[in-house]
Amino acid sequence: MQGGNHPCGTGAVSLPFTVAGEVIRGKQLGSQLGFPTANIRYDMRPGGWPRDGVYAGVACIRNELYLCVLNQGRHPTAPEGIPTVEAHLLDYSGGALYGEKIVLEYLHYLRPETAFSSLELLKAQLQRDKQNAREWALAFPTLLNSIVQKERS
Ligand SMILES: Cc1cc2nc3c(=O)[nH]c(=O)nc-3n(C[C@H](O)[C@H](O)[C@H](O)COP(=O)(O)O)c2cc1C
Repeated sequence: MQGGNHPCGTGAVSLPFTVAGEVIRGKQLGSQLGFPTANIRYDMRPGGWPRDGVYAGVACIRNELYLCVLNQGRHPTAPEGIPTVEAHLLDYSGGALYGEKIVLEYLHYLRPETAFSSLELLKAQLQRDKQNAREWALAFPTLLNSIVQKERS
């Protein structure tokens, strides 16, 4: 893949931003943290990428919409690697998604990526990200009515 098509974090592109692709196997760290993520093999993005970081958004999978928290970047904690896009779907309980088509909408910037000194700290932050995404979504009743909602964690 050409370098220009990786998420580059220049912030030249504004929200909302759409990325589509296929769910691929990641490092499996998210599942270890109790926070499974769908890693995306994304389509080419000739038009650039938003800045790296953590976003609240919506994921469409199997014709259903889920609120999600997603990370675009080099995930410096564990361990840093090539740029990835990965999403945790709130209220999704349907098992592994490898090979599925997914569309992600970045809707609201939450924070920059951080290099945490422990996985425990990363895990605690991921919980806060989820909570912040839920609070952000409260402002959009129609969005809330359109997404799958199950748990209340
Ligand atoms: C919402 C969200 C926020 C994240 N924030 C960070 C972060 O601040 N720093 C970091 O190093 N990694 C962050 N990550 C990435 C995780 O550290 C880790 O790479 C990922 O959960 C591993 O997923 P995998 O095992 O499926 O590849 C974040 C992931 C998600 C989904």
